[in-house]
Amino acid sequence: MSQSMRAVAVVPGTHEVRLVKETVPGLDGPSDVKLRILDVGVCGTDREICAFEYGTPPSGSEHLVIGHESLGEIVELGPGVSDLRLGDLVVPMVRRPCRHDHCRSCRAGRQDFCFTGDIRERGIKEAHGFMTEFVVDDARFMNVVPKDLRSVAVLVEPLTIAEKGLLQLWSLQERLPWACPHSAKEGRGHCHRAVVLGAGPVGLLGAMAFAALGFDTFVYSAEPDDHWKAGLVRSIGAHFVSALTHSVDQLRDQVGNIDLAYEATGNSRVTFDLLRVLGTNGIFIMTGVPGHRGPAPVDTDGLMRNMVLKNQIILGTVNAGRDAFEAAIRDLGVFTKLWPGAVGKLITGRFPVEGHRELLLGKPSGVKNVITFDSVA
Ligand code: BGC
Repeated sequence: MSQSMRAVAVVPGTHEVRLVKETVPGLDGPSDVKLRILDVGVCGTDREICAFEYGTPPSGSEHLVIGHESLGEIVELGPGVSDLRLGDLVVPMVRRPCRHDHCRSCRAGRQDFCFTGDIRERGIKEAHGFMTEFVVDDARFMNVVPKDLRSVAVLVEPLTIAEKGLLQLWSLQERLPWACPHSAKEGRGHCHRAVVLGAGPVGLLGAMAFAALGFDTFVYSAEPDDHWKAGLVRSIGAHFVSALTHSVDQLRDQVGNIDLAYEATGNSRVTFDLLRVLGTNGIFIMTGVPGHRGPAPVDTDGLMRNMVLKNQIILGTVNAGRDAFEAAIRDLGVFTKLWPGAVGKLITGRFPVEGHRELLLGKPSGVKNVITFDSVA
């Protein structure tokens, strides 16, 4: 008899968010692996899916199992899998390639740059996610995590957003003499100033990535100056500037030339306000997906003058490829060595699956809330 397991799902047709019973999946093909899910992070995208602003069930299903930030343990391997072992901790990638022959990105394993938009994203678009007890997937989407990162590895996926941004930043800025002298000793970013917009998980993980590379890093966010997040930012050697007391012009006066701006709020108003003060040869990386709140006035002449006269780049970036997952896993290890305890503070709490409604539908609180399926966590 097939066994059943619990999963957190949305039912768009009836606007329900609830636990569903699914059949425990078995291996489908020789390159499949089966994971016992340990941790699943709750993010803004999940909350939007639960508000029915986003998210699509797989074809033929009325519900979508959510969850895309995950950590699992390999409990079964197909006969064709040679590079993974039972007991390995893994973080699965989110996107699955489109099926079009002409999509060069998907055919090259770079579905994060899919041309057609016909990708599937586990837990988001047309594929069930990871907020459940067991998952089967192709081994090629797995990323092995060292066991000593067990307690924080659920942060790998949200960190991949900054890592993909950084990978693109280095290659884009090669167009000018941007590389810092003595970077081997002082860090690749030590001669540059970075502003991170927003102190949620994506922002704080980005700030850690930039600070670890030596960027003089400023986090600009809506918390007061004595908020614990401001303290966390200072504990990693970065600066906190409160948007409650400082305009973006005052921020720019404090920072100097803003070489890199990294947006992690999904708020287009404040993003375009910050874009006004981006520095010469600066790059502005946008990662948030705003809801449609209608048009807002923007000084298009001013922005365009700056973009041209200051050689600026605006870069939008979504999802992440294997290189960004590998960088995120490496960097989580670096962060835990540089600032013991700081990464752990990003995890607000671990909750059993029965607590899903409050986490997904209640007032947002803390930084990263995690649903755990691991009774020994
Ligand atoms: C996920 C990405 C995904 C994006 C758009 C984000 O929350 O982290 O993997 O591509 O949403 O659906």
